[in-house]
Amino acid sequence: MARLSGKVIIITGAAKGLGAADARMAAQEGAQVILTDVDEEAGRTVALEIGGSAKFVRHDVTQESEWQDLVVGVMREHGRLDGLVNNAGIVEAGTIESTMEDEWRRVMAVSADGSFFGCKHAVTAMREGGGGSIVNMASLASKRGQARFAAYCAAKGRSKR
Ligand SMILES: NC(=O)c1ccc[n+]([C@@H]2O[C@H](COP(=O)([O-])OP(=O)(O)OC[C@H]3O[C@@H](n4cnc5c(N)ncnc54)[C@H](O)[C@@H]3O)[C@@H](O)[C@H]2O)c1
Repeated sequence: MARLSGKVIIITGAAKGLGAADARMAAQEGAQVILTDVDEEAGRTVALEIGGSAKFVRHDVTQESEWQDLVVGVMREHGRLDGLVNNAGIVEAGTIESTMEDEWRRVMAVSADGSFFGCKHAVTAMREGGGGSIVNMASLASKRGQARFAAYCAAKGRSKR
């Protein structure tokens, strides 16, 4: 039996890369998958390719109001939320001296703020259904600092245990 049969799962940053791969695999395992991304065209293409068990929603993880709308919409349509993959992430190369404030804020907004908003709103919905699972995409950068990626290492540091 498919391991995710009957589960409803949100995957952010799912228009390409690891998020798209996660979405394909979750659908293969029987989940209803909600792919989200700021890249509408690519996101819709992946959802169409997966088929009926996938839906794309345009969603910017840095905006709390968009998280609220997303989770309310999923609960209205499916009545449950079982999983969230906080996958969206961006990288800006730069040392602690060369990183500009706007680069720092962009990287933190997507990886750190985005994961915070996602957990906050998903947990409330999951509690209604009796539980759920959240995966925050980490990186080796969360375990070991890399001088050329100061902002990225800080943004991923949340996943350190
Ligand atoms: N690829 C790797 O080798 C690697 C290694 C370690 C960790 N990671 C982490 O895995 C995750 C995915 O990596 P990837 O290489 O597949 O990335 P990617 O660049 O291929 O895809 C990231 C996706 O996130 C989307 N995105 C960017 N900003 C967004 C926003 N504000 N709201 C919603 N979506 C947004 C992009 O449009 C893109 O589709 C990231 O969190 C990354 O830090 C990747």
